[in-house]
Amino acid sequence: MIFLIYPALMIMILGCLLIESGNLDTDTCTIESKYGGIVIKLCAQREVIGVRGEDVILPCQFNHSNLNILQDLHLLLVKNNWIRENPKQNVVYNSSSNETSEDFKGRIEPEGNPSSGDGTVRIRHLRMADQGRYLCRFEWTKSNGVEDGFTVRKGKETNLQVDVRPNILNISSEFVNSNKTWKLFCEAEAKPEPNITWWNPQGLLLNASQMLVDEIYINKTENIKSRLIITNELLEEKYECLVQNKHGADHDYVYIEQKTQDVSWILGIWTTLLCLVLLILLLSVGFFIYKKKYKNKGD
Ligand SMILES: *[C@@H]1O[C@H](CO)[C@@H](O)[C@H](O)[C@H]1NC(C)=O
Ligand SMILES: *[C@@H]1O[C@H](CO)[C@@H](O)[C@H](O)[C@H]1NC(C)=O
Ligand SMILES: *[C@@H]1O[C@H](CO)[C@@H](O)[C@H](O)[C@H]1NC(C)=O
Ligand SMILES: *[C@@H]1O[C@H](CO)[C@@H](O)[C@H](O)[C@H]1NC(C)=O
Ligand SMILES: *[C@@H]1O[C@H](CO)[C@@H](O)[C@H](O)[C@H]1NC(C)=O
Ligand SMILES: *[C@@H]1O[C@H](CO)[C@@H](O)[C@H](O)[C@H]1NC(C)=O
Ligand SMILES: *[C@@H]1O[C@H](CO)[C@@H](O)[C@H](O)[C@H]1NC(C)=O
Ligand SMILES: *[C@@H]1O[C@H](CO)[C@@H](O)[C@H](O)[C@H]1NC(C)=O
Repeated sequence: MIFLIYPALMIMILGCLLIESGNLDTDTCTIESKYGGIVIKLCAQREVIGVRGEDVILPCQFNHSNLNILQDLHLLLVKNNWIRENPKQNVVYNSSSNETSEDFKGRIEPEGNPSSGDGTVRIRHLRMADQGRYLCRFEWTKSNGVEDGFTVRKGKETNLQVDVRPNILNISSEFVNSNKTWKLFCEAEAKPEPNITWWNPQGLLLNASQMLVDEIYINKTENIKSRLIITNELLEEKYECLVQNKHGADHDYVYIEQKTQDVSWILGIWTTLLCLVLLILLLSVGFFIYKKKYKNKGD
């Protein structure tokens, strides 16, 4: 009889433990209720967008029913994956030692006090390579001296996206002699993909074709080159290239000079020469008349 009661008891105890250790997650929080009425809660922002070269804040808040008796509570910020077998790997910030990994040296600062559960951090001077998934993890020592920890659950991590403000890299013009057209180029980097527009000096929007010149690498910006073809006869003018995305705008000008300038230059020389010849002619005629008059006077 005892052989039957014992396994039944075990099943009952296990069942109680399973019910007690519940998953109470919300959209942004990982919540677990443990045996003994302990509730642990860890909330992080799911999507964060930063701009290259600027600062970004990754919010994360930890709470525990016995928060004030947890010893040596500290934050570990982990990039991409928490590796249980090798806990030092992928840790980019440890608030206990105030240590950052090589890639983030001097760029991660806590915004609050991690030892009281505020795991919000600031990443300074964002780089393209900072893009990725960040896991917020808290570790502490229990009253019995045992180490414990709690990490955001899969799907509740912070996904950091690094965008780029529009920046014109190169603006140039090229004259195609065969069909007497101008090609204007404007190359820019921006993320997400920008709008490139061309404006003439009268403030009119011109049609241009836009193309991606660089593949989209995870760490790279998306470089866009816009080409504007101008066919009509033009005077010397300046054209504006305007690059916009949701993070801002950049603009620059390209100047084009009439290529028929060579002709006018030759024409100019000819007119000056003609004028000179005329002047010499006039002078010699005048001299001739004067000389003749003088001669008459002398007679
Ligand atoms: C932490 O949780 C306790 C209850 O478990 C609650 O009273 C307290 O306000 C929470 N603190 C924060 C900062 O959320
Ligand atoms: C964090 O820093 C503390 C104190 O230096 C150290 O004991 C702990 O092992 C570190 N944790 C990790 C995962 O590096
Ligand atoms: C942690 O390190 C940063 C720079 O790496 C420094 O500015 C800050 O004062 C340090 N904080 C503590 C508490 O040592
Ligand atoms: C992107 O960055 C990661 C680490 O930040 C690096 O391992 C990888 O080689 C980089 N990729 C490129 C194409 O630069
Ligand atoms: C700008 O573009 C022109 C035409 O494509 C090229 O000849 C020139 O080398 C480029 N300049 C720079 C600084 O990239
Ligand atoms: C002018 O010629 C160039 C090549 O020489 C060509 O790419 C361009 O499409 C031509 N433009 C027009 C408007 O015909
Ligand atoms: C620009 O191009 C579009 C389609 O190619 C055309 O419908 C539109 O009329 C053009 N606008 C101008 C100002 O040329
Ligand atoms: C890009 O151009 C489209 C069409 O002209 C416009 O609807 C959109 O608002 C522009 N986006 C930006 C960021 O300027």
